[in-house]
Amino acid sequence: MNVLLLGSGGREHALAWKLSKSSKIVKLYVGPGNAGTKEIAENVAINPMNFREVGLFCLENNVNILVVGPEAPLVEGISDYFSNNPDLKNIIVIGPGKKGALLEGSKDFAKGFMSVYGIPTAGYFTACKATIDKAIEFVEKQTPPYVLKADGLAAGKGVLIIDNKDEAILSLKEMLNGKFGEASARVVIEEFLSGIELSVFVLTNGNEYVIFPEAKDYKRIGEQDTGLNTGGMGAISPVSFADKEFMDKVENKIILPTINGLNKEGIPYLGFIFFGLIKVGNEPYVIEYNVRMGDPETEVVIPRLKNDLLDLFIAAKENKLSEIDIKFEDDFAATVMLVSGGYPGNYEKGKEITGLENNKDGKIFHAGTKIHNGKVVTEGGRVIAVTCLGKTKDIAVSKSLEIAEKVSFEKKYFRKDIGFDL
Ligand code: AMP
Ligand code: GLY
Repeated sequence: MNVLLLGSGGREHALAWKLSKSSKIVKLYVGPGNAGTKEIAENVAINPMNFREVGLFCLENNVNILVVGPEAPLVEGISDYFSNNPDLKNIIVIGPGKKGALLEGSKDFAKGFMSVYGIPTAGYFTACKATIDKAIEFVEKQTPPYVLKADGLAAGKGVLIIDNKDEAILSLKEMLNGKFGEASARVVIEEFLSGIELSVFVLTNGNEYVIFPEAKDYKRIGEQDTGLNTGGMGAISPVSFADKEFMDKVENKIILPTINGLNKEGIPYLGFIFFGLIKVGNEPYVIEYNVRMGDPETEVVIPRLKNDLLDLFIAAKENKLSEIDIKFEDDFAATVMLVSGGYPGNYEKGKEITGLENNKDGKIFHAGTKIHNGKVVTEGGRVIAVTCLGKTKDIAVSKSLEIAEKVSFEKKYFRKDIGFDL
């Protein structure tokens, strides 16, 4: 099988690493990839948003499976572009079509879907300019903090959590007036849920599904979960509080009704569903859906997967997922993200990275790197994810931290307390 994986982050390096081990892989391409994927696959200079270019590459290189890492091409309809094109329709696309991708691409759609199918989630009101008075009434009825979400994709920045009511109403108006462009033409106002978050992933073909190990990511830049939100500073899998009883609830109250709902809506779906959950008391609630794997969660989930990932993709396509015996390492996995100084604000790129050979005890996944003049240099805010496995969470974390110390680039920063609350 020839596979093209789209994306360039740590998630894609982890997926590429796993795919490269498949017995069925003939040729693995990553578009555009990074300095890490270049070691294990062929990087191709391709823009995942240019569907024509992606399609032509697949035809010219006899690609059998297209795996879409990030959400943006899915929300824009790359899967439909392939299924609607007679030359491309036989290529398996891992990632839903535009309708399925609305679960992530429109918060209003996701909330409406959850309310129709009785999936536990925070109460909400969707505001647009025409309904501002009702929206303010809804805000008035909430207790602080106030949760405002741009309906559309806003590069992970579209959620505001505000303590003060007047400020919340002001921000609501700013959002409706284009603070996040078209993405905030509608704003979902939510009841605030208090609890502890975790991420759960399934691979599904719309009928069958396999559940991957759950993970917890650490979104804030500062230790003890302080400071600005980032794309994710580290992750742990498994999550100690997600015991069997809780995960059974997740499956019965959230995963099954979601898959059944997609069926009832006539929405075909082949790909991952990422359930961003919060445990309130002993009950799971959905904070958000994503239609792809998480980053940095992939960097802890995929190293625990024992099965051949390509086999899972093919089984999903051939309606044979229920025949799969999915197996995971019992060990804990911890990933620590090394980021550029200044991130998530302004930061510099192009810093040489050294010490990458210190990977014997773990995996060094590249998140934002490239090759420049034969050297590996920084190319993003999140630069390197170091993953280690261990018999306990603490062993896994300390092994990752040991490697994190040895990899170096100017103004490197990382959190040393990943997993502190588990
Ligand atoms: P989202 O992009 O929807 O995942 O939201 C980003 C973050 O905001 C989440 O990971 C939560 O920490 C927080 N958040 C979102 N919605 C709520 C809510 N209804 N109650 C409490 N926290 C929330
Ligand atoms: N780690 C959260 C995300 O991938 O959206």
